[in-house]
Amino acid sequence: MRELMDWVGIPVTEQAAVLASPPDEQQLTAAVAELRRDLGTLESRAWPADSGTLPLYAYLTILPEVLAWHAARGVPREVSQATMRQLGSRVRDGELIRPYWFGRHFRGSLYRLGRLQFDRTTRHGEPILDIHIPSGEPLTPEACDSSLTAARPFFARHFPAEDYKRAVCTSWLLDPQLADYLPEDSNILRFQRRFTPETVVSQADDDVTTFVFDQPPGAELPRRTTLERAIADHLANGNHWHHVTGWLPL
Ligand SMILES: CC(C)(COP(=O)(O)OP(=O)(O)OC[C@H]1O[C@@H](n2cnc3c(N)ncnc32)[C@H](O)[C@@H]1OP(=O)(O)O)[C@@H](O)C(=O)NCCC(=O)NCCS
Repeated sequence: MRELMDWVGIPVTEQAAVLASPPDEQQLTAAVAELRRDLGTLESRAWPADSGTLPLYAYLTILPEVLAWHAARGVPREVSQATMRQLGSRVRDGELIRPYWFGRHFRGSLYRLGRLQFDRTTRHGEPILDIHIPSGEPLTPEACDSSLTAARPFFARHFPAEDYKRAVCTSWLLDPQLADYLPEDSNILRFQRRFTPETVVSQADDDVTTFVFDQPPGAELPRRTTLERAIADHLANGNHWHHVTGWLPL
């Protein structure tokens, strides 16, 4: 267990809390069986909100099988590890926050290639890569170029039956209102300009608060950076942020 926790980057300070609260054995066996059933599909188990340490234990238990599934498709070990290390950044007090998110990693559909994550999906029968942006490092244009260049050859090589010609991204980072606040040459606006926007999908106020400030909705927001000031001022003035969908060719 410790070795797996180290491998996915769970901080040593969190590992003790994880080990101190093992889940019920029967529930764990059942959850692992469901994850095994989802592996290789585009469906994921839905975790109840109060799942405690169960999701983390279940993911760590199934991890060697998922890695074997990756290896059988020739996915390089460093890509598998870069993908799975997001787990390590999402453990708080021995539990995984937003555990539903990791369904994509553990069913074998999401891969981190450099700065960006790519999730295999379909839209109206067309294979599409869904782009996600993990936190932790600046979103530099160079890093994005390199990820986007790597994506099509990676999936052509490891998933040859699926021909990905386009990628989609649904994120608050594509909300055009950000241009009212951020400099033209900010990484976020440069990222946004890569995409052809399609639709305003949904209100993103709570997600922005969670993703940027790591705070629950309604919390007092600090105003330390240009983005923090933009988000907080926009909301304080009664406005909303939106998740927007955009497309780009690969
Ligand atoms: C996407 C992300 C990496 C962009 O960071 P970046 O490369 O630094 O972005 P920019 O260069 O455009 O930053 C412009 C300004 O916003 C600030 N900023 C950017 N991201 C910030 C964050 N997460 N928290 C606080 N301030 C942030 C920068 O500090 C800068 O302000 P400053 O000039 O006053 O210092 C970062 O916002 C992030 O990690 N977000 C969380 C992940 C996320 O939301 N993913 C999408 C899920 S749908």
